[in-house]
Amino acid sequence: TANEMWGGRFAAGPAAIMEEINASIGFDKRMYAQDIAGSKAHCAMLVKQGILSEADGTAITQGLDKVLAEIEAGAFEFKASLEDIHMNVEARLKELIGEPAGRLHTARSRNDQVATDFRLWLRDAIDGLEAQLKTLHRALIDKADKHADVVMPGFTHLQSAQPVTFGHHLLAYVEMIGRDRGRLADCRKRLNECPLGAAALAGTSFPTDRHATAQMLGFDGPTHNSMDSVAARDFAMEFLAAASITAVHLSRLAEEIVIWASQQFNFVHLTDAFTTGSSIMPQKKNPDAAELIRAKPGRIIGSLNALLIVMKGLPMTYGKDMQEDKEVTFDAADNLSLAVAAMAGMVEDMEPNKESMRAALVDGFPTATDLADWLVRVLGLPFRDAHHVTGSLVALAEKQGVTLDALSLADMQTVEPRITDDVFSVLSADASVNSRTSFGGTAPANVKAAASAARERFL
Ligand code: ARG
Repeated sequence: TANEMWGGRFAAGPAAIMEEINASIGFDKRMYAQDIAGSKAHCAMLVKQGILSEADGTAITQGLDKVLAEIEAGAFEFKASLEDIHMNVEARLKELIGEPAGRLHTARSRNDQVATDFRLWLRDAIDGLEAQLKTLHRALIDKADKHADVVMPGFTHLQSAQPVTFGHHLLAYVEMIGRDRGRLADCRKRLNECPLGAAALAGTSFPTDRHATAQMLGFDGPTHNSMDSVAARDFAMEFLAAASITAVHLSRLAEEIVIWASQQFNFVHLTDAFTTGSSIMPQKKNPDAAELIRAKPGRIIGSLNALLIVMKGLPMTYGKDMQEDKEVTFDAADNLSLAVAAMAGMVEDMEPNKESMRAALVDGFPTATDLADWLVRVLGLPFRDAHHVTGSLVALAEKQGVTLDALSLADMQTVEPRITDDVFSVLSADASVNSRTSFGGTAPANVKAAASAARERFL
């Protein structure tokens, strides 16, 4: 049988495979609440403008509320033959209220409808993520504050570089998450314009008030060009780009947690709450949550890639290609949400193992830079010369199999005769971190101040 929406031009229904490839209801039913909210706002605007009678408006609004209640009660039958959420809702509305249902689609199209629903959905998703990221932020800041003075090796190239504090290390992620939240907020701001009323692509001859519809739906205003309104998906691409960057940041922290929790490092302890066992090896406690977070960029960047490729080269305006925008976006939003929540839990759970961190400072001469700096400050050597002298002292210590502070003064003086006893004051890891008082540096007092500043900035 011909389609009930466009049956006028059609004598027969679609092939089964046509229906299958065409239908989006399997995934776009997630936007039911946004679809109904959009329809109610559109209906109210039509009544306000005298395009629809009060009586029809009331019937439609009450009918839509009923549809919403049915969906929320799980009593709604979604039909693939009705393609998508928009037609499923409208068809049910017609069953419920009859003729007035057919007037709702005046001065709109599914093209502006779906663009509106999708923006509304994404706006909610961003708000949800923002709340979760704030929770993660709090967990990181609290932990950093608590361990502002726990000394550990800082790494470059995953080689011991200079001593830092665990709190300082965590605050690096606080900065990243801060920018991630900023990117999502920017995305939200740009997407918050309402396409509804652009109709198919050219606008409408009905005396609509698009500003009113936009306002009712909490948008900052209507989109400015009817063609762009139905053709644009950069709001979703921008979201996916921001989500990808966030996922990459989470995966870097996840990887560090995997490394830190290994027996070889043993820098942090995760409780049973954030580890899993092995079916064969009884001793195991694996950091599976961290590994899954490490993996999430695979699908999230994949989603960004997928949508960029779908949109690339699409001519104006709407094309059914664009129906492919939703599954990838939903998947990315769901998985990012999961990753952020799991990371927040894991950060709260994780405790540093101070002894292991301190023991690791024995390897790799992490205070070599402090020694070079002492040669500059006290002996007045140019930094390049100091670097060279220190390199020779490191080679000497390596040969003797000792740390820099275990070299005798006499041995040091064989390399640079002007070195005095005072040099030992800068060779401990504690002295090193305490001296790093430059703005943004790792001195525990700085870290304490940075943590409270972060509280002000981000919480
Ligand atoms: N299900 C469609 C989508 O997700 C809705 C818009 C359909 N518009 C159209 N002219 N076929 O993109």
